[in-house]
Amino acid sequence: MMDRRIVLELVGVSQTFGDKVNPTHALRSVSLQVPEREVVIIMGPSGAGKSTLLAIAGALRRPTSGEVIVDETPLSSLKDHALAEVRLQKIGFVFQEFNLLESLSVIQNLELVLAKAGTRGKRATERAQELLRILGVDHRRDARVNILSGGERQRVAIARALVNNPVVILADEPTASLDAVRGGEVMGMLQKVAHDMGSAVVMVSHDHRVLPYSDRVVWLEDGHLEDREPASMHSAEAPTFASTTVQPG
Ligand SMILES: Nc1ncnc2c1ncn2[C@@H]1O[C@H](COP(=O)(O)OP(=O)(O)O)[C@@H](O)[C@H]1O
Ligand SMILES: [Mg+2]
Repeated sequence: MMDRRIVLELVGVSQTFGDKVNPTHALRSVSLQVPEREVVIIMGPSGAGKSTLLAIAGALRRPTSGEVIVDETPLSSLKDHALAEVRLQKIGFVFQEFNLLESLSVIQNLELVLAKAGTRGKRATERAQELLRILGVDHRRDARVNILSGGERQRVAIARALVNNPVVILADEPTASLDAVRGGEVMGMLQKVAHDMGSAVVMVSHDHRVLPYSDRVVWLEDGHLEDREPASMHSAEAPTFASTTVQPG
């Protein structure tokens, strides 16, 4: 067994919404350990608590009870400003709505995130350009975000999520709006970042085509988490990004 560092841990995390009379138990004592370099896919029906789990893992929400440990720091002990620092320095978010600043250029969107984390000037520009090149959108560096296509926005959002070298990357349906070619590229990219750069990737998806890119699949239902065998979920007949790619000629 390889000795890999645990970079994200949830210990007995519960989240209850609403009041005592009519509570919604979004998460019921969920525990999860994610080592560096691992790609974990969270699947489960709508309303299962997947987005709530990502928000808690990403220090966007404090759980009702339980502990979240990011890069060996227990979050419950942190004040709000320290939590914000964890989000900035340790977590990369790829959410569906992208949250890019529409009136800024592509590179300005990345430089803004770098500046917040303390990297400015030439170093920031070089780092931003490097990520745009890796994601294949460097030719769009000076374009305003509001003129980009959906696929380009997705790539810029991923570049921005990676720019501060996060230890944990959290993604909510990153392939949802993409065709087979782009979807496969994005998954290849996330897998490469995990395996080569050492980040952990925790991703919510309904898309069975992402399964070949994952190391582990967990199933969330009614606030309960359990491991699933990726092989059993990914049968030979299941669609893959490769099989849906249109072959030239
Ligand atoms: N801010 C909130 N206030 C009240 N209920 C919420 C809130 N966020 C989520 N819920 C409820 O918690 C449950 C889990 O939601 P969610 O985490 O969004 O599930 P999923 O992402 O798996 O579809 C649902 O019943 C949802 O209605
Ligand atoms: Mg959701």
